[in-house]
Amino acid sequence: MGKDPKFRSLKGMPDILPEDSACMRWMEERSREIFRLFGFSEIRTPLLEDTRVFTRSIGQDTDIVEKEMYSFTDRGGKSVSLRPEGTASVIRAYIENLASGGTELVKLFYSGPMFRGERPQKGRLRQFHQIGVEIIGGKNPFIDAELIMCLDALLKNLGAGDFKIFINSIGCSGDRKAYTAKLKDYLSPLKEELCENCRRRVQSNVLRVLDCKRPRCRNTVKGAPAITDNLCKDCLDGYSTLKNILYASGIPFDEKPDLVRGLDYYTGTIFEVMHPGLGAQDAVAAGGRYDDLTADMGGPDTGATGFALGVERLMLIMDRSAVDLPSADAVVIPVDEALRADAFRLMVKFRRRGIACEMDHTGRSLKAQMRKANKEGRRFVALLGEDEARKGKVLIKDMSESAQRELAADEAIEFIKEALSVKDG
Ligand code: HAM
Repeated sequence: MGKDPKFRSLKGMPDILPEDSACMRWMEERSREIFRLFGFSEIRTPLLEDTRVFTRSIGQDTDIVEKEMYSFTDRGGKSVSLRPEGTASVIRAYIENLASGGTELVKLFYSGPMFRGERPQKGRLRQFHQIGVEIIGGKNPFIDAELIMCLDALLKNLGAGDFKIFINSIGCSGDRKAYTAKLKDYLSPLKEELCENCRRRVQSNVLRVLDCKRPRCRNTVKGAPAITDNLCKDCLDGYSTLKNILYASGIPFDEKPDLVRGLDYYTGTIFEVMHPGLGAQDAVAAGGRYDDLTADMGGPDTGATGFALGVERLMLIMDRSAVDLPSADAVVIPVDEALRADAFRLMVKFRRRGIACEMDHTGRSLKAQMRKANKEGRRFVALLGEDEARKGKVLIKDMSESAQRELAADEAIEFIKEALSVKDG
């Protein structure tokens, strides 16, 4: 870090430096492979949306809408917000462009930055990245199973290791209505035990109380009726079909009857993925069904489900050994300054033929340049000394076997390309 920089990035909105950036790119590329395997196509929605897209879907009484959105009035006097998550925008885009009656299954994936004005801490940022998917157009539990299998494959392929999938069902809107009344009856006499926020929410949105992280509130809701004991037959059947498919497919999961989500649009099956490396309250990925949202936002009455994983959280726990950091394959080193222009020409020639190549321009000694090439894991060093220059040759050192060969430039290029299996650039 600079000593006393004049400007700093905003709190919770860190720069993503080359090493993390390479890791994120690797994650995105790997995810694309998995999504192709599962039949998803990519969608890119704007970072900025009409604020109502989020208030209407995520819910007025949620933390995100109440206190975390970056909202402002644009020049036309419209309230707009930076997206705090991807689902609402994808559904808005689906209704606007892709719905065609809601009878087709539309499978979309996305990745990119999201914005929430949370209190920044490890794994909790104000600008963070999600990789997510949404499947719109059906309510069949086989869809939920596909989705969870996709998430499981994704996490395994991204090196998440020791994760655990927790699932629950919070029922359809009918179930929620009946359950909400029961929960209100249970919590109303215990209001004094709850935090101020939850006391208010007993009236306005009682399910949110189940999601409060304060120990006193958690304690108070412990004896409350469980939502899973209040599901209708259809929801119960759907939920048990899903569990059976997951068992049969060998996808490990645990049931967590007190699992609720911090966004209001969910119905039916929901899930969160936890990892011991993140602490008890932080999920690495989460999602679930939201069968009423599309119709609520003015689209066809059709089921939908999805998940999103937190890229920065995954980076805290993943095994990074599979991530290749991009680096030049070769370094050209002139043995003395008079040969710099020749070495430069050689580097240009290498690059034109598709060999990633670099040269030091900071005045390092020959020894220091060799040391740096070694440290940065360059496969080849092309040393240009007076002797070689006179003969029209270059000394190619293969660092993987510490052998060296004197070759003409074109021979050197062929040799390196063959060793690296580089196609013509
Ligand atoms: P979410 O649980 O709010 O769900 O976020 C999903 C994931 O994003 C979290 O599990 C976490 O890994 C990451 N995340 C959330 N907030 C932060 C933050 N402030 N800093 C770092 N990472 C964070 C959703 O966003 C839903 N849209 C998921 C979904 C898709 N449901 C259905 N479809």
